[in-house]
Amino acid sequence: MKFLSPSLLAADFSKLGDEAELISSAGADLLHIDVMDGHFVPNITFGPSVLKSLNNRNTVPYDVHLMIENPDLYIEDFVTDKTEYIVVHQEACRHLHRTISHIKSFGIKAGVSINPATSVETLYDILPFVDLVLIMSVNPGFGGQKFIPHSLKKIERLKALREEMNLDFQIEIDGGVNEDNVSEIIASGVDIVVAGSAVFKKETKNTVLQVQNLKRIMNL
Ligand code: DX5
Ligand code: ZN
Repeated sequence: MKFLSPSLLAADFSKLGDEAELISSAGADLLHIDVMDGHFVPNITFGPSVLKSLNNRNTVPYDVHLMIENPDLYIEDFVTDKTEYIVVHQEACRHLHRTISHIKSFGIKAGVSINPATSVETLYDILPFVDLVLIMSVNPGFGGQKFIPHSLKKIERLKALREEMNLDFQIEIDGGVNEDNVSEIIASGVDIVVAGSAVFKKETKNTVLQVQNLKRIMNL
């Protein structure tokens, strides 16, 4: 089974709750929540209070992508009834094992993400402890960027490591995914696909159809 996690970053922020409900009812499996602090990445988005407001709406569970420095200080704030995953960046964690354990202590699934310039091999000793690995296929900070094709090689290496170590974490990809490249991405071994601008396409404005299109291609 392959999962689609549309990113709210590309949604209309003036009606975030409506957009979250719309993509959920269209067949999204998770809601990808991009939290940016203006330090780890050169952009600022939203914080835990937005997440808590969304809890009152009828949505699928959250896949929280923390692109922030010192994530340990804020993890508890992102624990809500609907939080399924909290994902931190390897590059932002001095004591990654401690951070992963901290997330799990709340009964939430823990993930680690790496930037395009970070090798999957740097994760070797944390892999047995994570539920998910997120490979960034653009440099984090903004939606609407171009997919970096080398990411597919990283997915294949990560998949090989998962087999070799007999582990079962999920592999997620984020950045530049669209209906033209998603089948190749799935074929490389990805389990969870994030898509922002491809879902909230400005040209067509047909978000429901975009969710259905991507899901159909992914699960062929
Ligand atoms: C980028 C974010 C992504 C972003 C993806 O830093 O982590 O989740 O929303 O947007 P698209 O799909 O437009 O590349
Ligand atoms: Zn993201």
